[in-house]
Amino acid sequence: MSKQTDDFFKSVVSHAKEYGFVFQSSEIYDGLSAVYDYGQLGSELKNNLKTYWWKSMVQLNENIVGIDAAIFMHPTTWKASGHVDGFNDPMIDNKDSKKRYRADQLIEDKIARYEADGKTDKAAALLADLNKALNADDLAGLKTIIEEHNIVCPVSGTKNWTEVRQFNLMFATQMGAMADGAEQVYLRPETAQGIFVNFLNVQKTGRMKIPFGIAQIGKAFRNEVIARQFIMRMREFEQMEMQFFCRPGTEMEWYNKWKETRLKWHLALGFNPDNYRYHDHDKLAHYANAAVDIEFNFPFGFKEVEGIHSRTDFDLKQHQEFSKKKMQYFDTEINQNYIPYVIETSIGLDRLFLTVLCNSLVQEDLSTDEKQDSRVVLKFPPALAPVKAAILPLTKKDGLPEKAREIMATLKLDYNVQYDEKDAIGKRYRRQDAIGTPFCITVDHQSLEDNTVTIRDRDTMKQERVAIADLERIVSDLAGWNTLLKKLI
Ligand code: GAP
Repeated sequence: MSKQTDDFFKSVVSHAKEYGFVFQSSEIYDGLSAVYDYGQLGSELKNNLKTYWWKSMVQLNENIVGIDAAIFMHPTTWKASGHVDGFNDPMIDNKDSKKRYRADQLIEDKIARYEADGKTDKAAALLADLNKALNADDLAGLKTIIEEHNIVCPVSGTKNWTEVRQFNLMFATQMGAMADGAEQVYLRPETAQGIFVNFLNVQKTGRMKIPFGIAQIGKAFRNEVIARQFIMRMREFEQMEMQFFCRPGTEMEWYNKWKETRLKWHLALGFNPDNYRYHDHDKLAHYANAAVDIEFNFPFGFKEVEGIHSRTDFDLKQHQEFSKKKMQYFDTEINQNYIPYVIETSIGLDRLFLTVLCNSLVQEDLSTDEKQDSRVVLKFPPALAPVKAAILPLTKKDGLPEKAREIMATLKLDYNVQYDEKDAIGKRYRRQDAIGTPFCITVDHQSLEDNTVTIRDRDTMKQERVAIADLERIVSDLAGWNTLLKKLI
């Protein structure tokens, strides 16, 4: 099955649910729109993705440290950052279906349809008009485009639209016991601001010298106007962000370095490089002087997974102004005080998770002349696999389970491993293939005599007899962090 189809995407979503990767939030109450829970295998995969990011940022770079800032922040933070006034999406309602849409996404969908129909000139002209209207915050202009291009509501099929209005994406709540005296606070819409407000704390206590970075992994919340495509656009999601502070004037050099470094990080996972590309921003955010996305070719087309932004000194300057605290750094090399410039790398963990699922899910035809056969495999990069090895006694008797448990007791100190003695061995292999376990270790009667086992490779399905004493090394050589991280240096 081609990976660029709706059917493939449906199979990813249903596989994720069937095997305990992703569930709809509060499913027993019919779910909550654009909110998802990660199940027993999904949370393992997510943790592995976080570890891969954290180790490559914080452990491999002497000048990058990590923090864990609170989700709630002083509300002035969001005034200073521009989110209270400017973190809006242009939205439009269809009066017949009562459905709400993002005006820019309706237009983007139309551009995609023009492209699919081979009307590339029309698509390019419409894209230029869209960018012009967005850059000028021209809401009436967006409405005119929608009317002129005969864009209809996908539900009602009519053009009975309201005006385009701005809609702030931040979730607000009250802090304090009494509604009267309570202060309005926001759930952070990005983790970056937790880094900016701690810039001086970290720089001073960590004796950090510019250039240096601060990394963070954490939840972010956005009241997305429309939620779509599974964990692609969620209202509660997780970001992995790093702000790299540098001397003004050196930012483009660092921007280019991080642009390259981040793509290399994605490609080190070993998936098809043709499915990754850069996309330079036409419309720059108010704080940026350069911005690029790393896009992945999802079943629904190339979409952003990570953004690399040159954020200038905008955020620190704003916080200096609003807090009246100096956000400056004294650079001893040039004997100057300045507000550092910032390069940001910002990746959505959930979107990354989805890239890994889409890349890894494979339906393989194993038919021979004698019989029809197939298997579903998750070909995860071994270091990311939720379960690294399954330990399988060939039978439930003759001391084989005890021997298998001995092996398990050693391997589980370093890796998440599973024990399974139920059903025929072939069926057990298939179960492990479907959750992406790189190794199946089978304990048989010979194991009791010579302390060897068979080890089956998930991808080749080949089996080899090896000494039990070698198992730790074999698993580590393929699935240890060391093997993956070495590709980055
Ligand atoms: N601090 C910069 C920032 O937040 P962004 O492009 O708005 O930039 C960064 O978000 C990344 O966060 C995106 O590339 C995407 O992977 C992820 N992201 C943003 N909104 C999301 C959503 N609603 N659901 C899931 N991931 C999201």
